[in-house]
Amino acid sequence: MSRTVLIGVTGCVAIYKTCEVIRGLQKAGVRAKVVMTESATHFINPTLFRSLTREPVAVGLFDDAPGDPIHHISLAKEADLFLIAPCTANVIAKMAHGIADDLLTTTALATTAPIVIAPAMNVNMYENAATQLNMETLRTRGIAFIDAESGYLACGDEGKGRLADPAVIVEAVLERLDAKRDLEGKRVLVTAGPTVEPIDAVRFISNPSSGKMGFAIAAAAHERGADVTLVTGPVALEDLPGMETVHVRTACEMLEAVDAAFDKADIAIFTAAVSDYRPANPSGCKLKKGRDDAELSTIQLVENPDILATMSSRKRDGQVVVGFAAETDDLEVNAREKLAKKNADFIVANLVSHGNGFAADENEATIVSKDGAKPLNRMAKGQLAHRILDELLG
Ligand code: PMT
Repeated sequence: MSRTVLIGVTGCVAIYKTCEVIRGLQKAGVRAKVVMTESATHFINPTLFRSLTREPVAVGLFDDAPGDPIHHISLAKEADLFLIAPCTANVIAKMAHGIADDLLTTTALATTAPIVIAPAMNVNMYENAATQLNMETLRTRGIAFIDAESGYLACGDEGKGRLADPAVIVEAVLERLDAKRDLEGKRVLVTAGPTVEPIDAVRFISNPSSGKMGFAIAAAAHERGADVTLVTGPVALEDLPGMETVHVRTACEMLEAVDAAFDKADIAIFTAAVSDYRPANPSGCKLKKGRDDAELSTIQLVENPDILATMSSRKRDGQVVVGFAAETDDLEVNAREKLAKKNADFIVANLVSHGNGFAADENEATIVSKDGAKPLNRMAKGQLAHRILDELLG
């Protein structure tokens, strides 16, 4: 059965390139259907897209679509993938904030299909902190971006902001459409983020884990059809759609949540940066300098449970357990030690020196198992998440 790509078209000079994207997708046997913003119709008449796609072109939220009273929902449902090309800074901003005030953005909010955005705009708009932050927000929700290109822009400026080449867009869309569903019917448990171990009512021991790596793995597993449970320490990321997310603070709380989900999981991936120790006697009040100096200057620590090792000790046949190792040197040697000590099937050892690993958008890792070690280049955490899953599934 032919797959449907819904193409969202926004008001931008690069709109003419969308015609080539439509052709490229059609050549690959994909059904293309267009939804336009009102602004886009100032650049191209919907008739052109109607002729190219031989499908009705949707524009207004309240336009009468014969036999289809709730048009944004039916459009959202029939899409196997929603591509927005070109996508303006305005539409990116609206989507980042969940604003749905026209047919295109309402459909984007309503669809559960993967969304791919090909931005196009002036270089200053592209580099503006607001646009960058909005794109980052959307990325953390699993929306993929096809990078804008650098070059001469319609406004006369030079820089990044040109819509990617139509062939590049078509290739990225086809790749995404063909994405594997090799985790269909499988349950995947992922831990993410730091744990926070209280010293008193306001102070704690923690680490700079942002949760990005764990969330990327959870998103990739979900995309590949898995039923995902994500157990996360405190992070600034929004919950990912389509999965159960359990929020915890301490290592002991994380152990409890993982313990409840582990037996049902086919694959358990421990990305969290768990505090190895916690204060032995956390105070319920804020300790005061001067009055509680002894408690503040000497904090007694007790060891936290090792969640990965505890779970691995009851691993059943066929269950795959993956640990992470944050290392500054001797990546493989240290990873091998953890593989054996924690009875894991794989250890993903990542370099956390020189600003790598923690909180970054990219990561560089070596995947170590009893069969060998696979060093991977530095890449986006979303991409690395898929490489790790590829490796586990053989
Ligand atoms: O969250 P980000 O900002 O994206 O950063 C990602 C990351 C750097 C945190 C991540 O890629 C990573 O390396 N996570 C593991 C960090 C770590 O704490 O490594 P470790 O060597 O201390 O622990 C080894 C393994 O045992 C890990 O899988 C850890 O989850 C697990 N562990 C450790 C201690 C403990 N008490 N319980 C555990 O389960």
